[in-house]
Amino acid sequence: MYVIAHLSDPHLDGSAEPRSRLRRITAYLAAYTRPVDVVLVTGDLADHGLAEEYAEVARELSLDVPVLMLPGNHDVSSPLRAGLTSYVDAPGADHPVHQVRDVGEARFVLVDSTVPGEDHGLLSAETLDWLEKTLSDPHDGPLFLAMHHPPLDLHHPVMDQWKLFDREPLAEVLTGKPITAILTGHVHNAVVTTFAGHQVLGAPGIRSTVPLPFEPPLPTDSPVDPTAHPGLALHVHTPTDPLQTFYRFP
Ligand SMILES: [Fe+2]
Ligand SMILES: [Fe+2]
Repeated sequence: MYVIAHLSDPHLDGSAEPRSRLRRITAYLAAYTRPVDVVLVTGDLADHGLAEEYAEVARELSLDVPVLMLPGNHDVSSPLRAGLTSYVDAPGADHPVHQVRDVGEARFVLVDSTVPGEDHGLLSAETLDWLEKTLSDPHDGPLFLAMHHPPLDLHHPVMDQWKLFDREPLAEVLTGKPITAILTGHVHNAVVTTFAGHQVLGAPGIRSTVPLPFEPPLPTDSPVDPTAHPGLALHVHTPTDPLQTFYRFP
């Protein structure tokens, strides 16, 4: 059994509230009787992309298991690379921060879906070429594609401004590739859908949750509910069964 603890969107900013929300998750994981095989954090690690925020991310996610991280729209490539050297192993410099990481039997292709200075996601032609080559490289074991922006419309007037744009060329690259699942964040919701024939599994937002437009209105104009429980996804892979995903809100 191979277990991924999938966290997303801690948005650490030096203040107590987001830090305590992340600590709810890490304390819960630390109490497991059998440690997870890997922790994956799918972006918006820091709230403003500042060096001191990445120092906090590094401290708070210093766990006894391997931890993988990728950037979200709130992150900034250069300070992220500089502050998270023990977590991020990406060739090149600055943007984009693409990684291929093998942890045990699983391969993680961590693609940077961000556009510097923007909140929406977009995969450039160069990134799509890199993905095509990387996903064609044979791997004997589960293969997870992880990125911040999920390939979906949330049907939310605010969040859909910041969605992953131009998804057709990505679908062409991903169709038929041996991907176990696509793991994402950004929409601050536990969400399950499909894209290009693959399962898409979104982790809940640690910092906050985005209610859907038909859910009870929030007391403020903000699109996020900062009081909703933080949560995580647990992806359980075995050689014999389809991937199983469990959501927890400790
Ligand atoms: Fe976020
Ligand atoms: Fe985001």
